[in-house]
Amino acid sequence: MSDKIIFSPGKMGDVEIPNRLIRSATYLGRADENGRTTDDLIEVYEKLALGGIGLCITGVTIIREDGAQLAKMLSNYSDDYIESLSNIAGAYHDKVNEMGNNSKIFLQIGHCGSQSTHWGYQGELISASNVENTILHKTPRSLSIEEIQEITDLFALATHRAKKAGFDGVQYHGAHGYLITQFYSPFFNKRDDIYGGSVKNRAKFAVEILEKSRKKVGDTFPITLKMNGSDKIESGLKLPEAINLARIFAEKGYDALEISSYIHEAGRTEEIISLPPETQKNLRKRNKEAYNLDYASSIKSELMKNDKTNIPVIVVGGLFRFDTIERILNETSIDFCAMCRPLLRQPNLPNIWKNGPPYPEAECIHCNLCTNEFLIKGPRSKGVRCVMKEKQEKKKRRRN
Ligand SMILES: Cc1cc2nc3c(=O)[nH]c(=O)nc-3n(C[C@H](O)[C@H](O)[C@H](O)COP(=O)(O)O)c2cc1C
Ligand code: SF4
Repeated sequence: MSDKIIFSPGKMGDVEIPNRLIRSATYLGRADENGRTTDDLIEVYEKLALGGIGLCITGVTIIREDGAQLAKMLSNYSDDYIESLSNIAGAYHDKVNEMGNNSKIFLQIGHCGSQSTHWGYQGELISASNVENTILHKTPRSLSIEEIQEITDLFALATHRAKKAGFDGVQYHGAHGYLITQFYSPFFNKRDDIYGGSVKNRAKFAVEILEKSRKKVGDTFPITLKMNGSDKIESGLKLPEAINLARIFAEKGYDALEISSYIHEAGRTEEIISLPPETQKNLRKRNKEAYNLDYASSIKSELMKNDKTNIPVIVVGGLFRFDTIERILNETSIDFCAMCRPLLRQPNLPNIWKNGPPYPEAECIHCNLCTNEFLIKGPRSKGVRCVMKEKQEKKKRRRN
C-alpha cells in the first residue's frame, strides 16, 4: 500500500475527503427525455465509487430549462427532481459503504446562459449582457435585476435539493463560459449597474448565489465553485483579476475553488460546433500536462496570505501521471487534483495507483473522441464514454 500524499485525507468545509483525487464534473448525456436519472447513468457513478476516487463531482445539473447547453442533461428544476437526483447519491453511497472507502459525492449545479449549442435550449437566450453566441449566431437578452434575483433564488433552491437528495456538498459551474462566468468575465459582462464594472460588482452574482444558498443549507454543507483562472481570450478574464475574484469568493464563504480555464469563444473555429477548448487535446505530444497549474497555484498562494481566505484549491486539466500529481501536492500548496477524461476511460485509476508502483500513466490519450461524438450526434449518442477504447477493443477483436 502507498503512503504517498495522494492517499492522505483532506477537507472541504467540515467534510473529510479520503484522498486528494477528484473526479471533475463530467456531463454524461444519459438523462432520460425529462432530464431524470437512468440506470445507465447510475452505473457510471457506481463504477466511480468502486474505483477509489476521493470525491466525485457529478456532471452539471441544470436549474431551469433555458440553462441546458447539450442533449440529455440532468434537470434540477423543481422538487419533482429530488427523487431522480437521490438515485445517484444513494447508489454512490451504497457502493462506498460496500467498499468502506469513505468517498464523497458533490452535485454540480449550473446554467449555461448564452452558451447553448445546437443540442441545448433553442428558445431565447439570456446572459449578463447581449454579447453574441457565435456558435448559434444568436444574441442573448441582458437580464434585468429582477430576473437576476429569480435566477440566484433558483440556484439556492437547487442547492437545497442537493442536500435533501443526500449529496455531501455542491459545486457551481462557474467556469468555461457558463452563466456565472458570464457575470464575472469582462468578455461577457458589459453592464453598468451593480452587477457590472468593478471586479466586486462582477463577483456579486456568484456571491449572492452563495449567500442565498447558505440560508437554505446552513454553514456546514460544503458549497464550492469551479472558476476560470483565465478565459484565454483577449478582453476576457486574466489571472490578476481571477486572483481578486478568488479572494472575494473565499472571503464570502465558498468552501473550495476548482481552477480551470478557457471559454468556448477562445476555441472558435468555423465548424458548426466548436470543440470545447477547456478539454485540451493531445497533451503528451504538445507537452501540455497540467495546463492550469500556474493559475491554480497563483490563486492558492494569494489565498494563503490570510487565514480567512485559505480555502482548498483544486487544479484540473491535463493530469494523467501519478508522479506529476504527487509532485503538485508536495511542491505547491494546491490541495486536490481533479481529472475528467482519464476517469471516463478508467474509473478505477485511483485504485490502480493505490496498489503501489509502478503507477502506470492514465490510458486516456486526450484524443477528445468522447467529446466529438456527443457534439456531433447529440441525442443520438449512446452517452458520453471512451470512444477510443471502444475502437481499440473492436480492432483487437477483429485481429483475433
Ligand atoms: C465529456 C466531458 C464532459 C464534461 N462535462 C463537464 C461538466 O458537466 N461540468 C464541468 O464543469 N466541466 C465539464 N467538463 C470539463 C472537465 O471537468 C475538465 O475541466 C476538463 O475536461 C479538463 O480535465 P481533463 O484534462 O482531466 O479531462 C467536461 C469534459 C468532458 C471531456
Ligand atoms: S475518447 Fe477516451 S482516450 Fe480519447 S479523450 Fe476521451 S476518454 Fe480519453
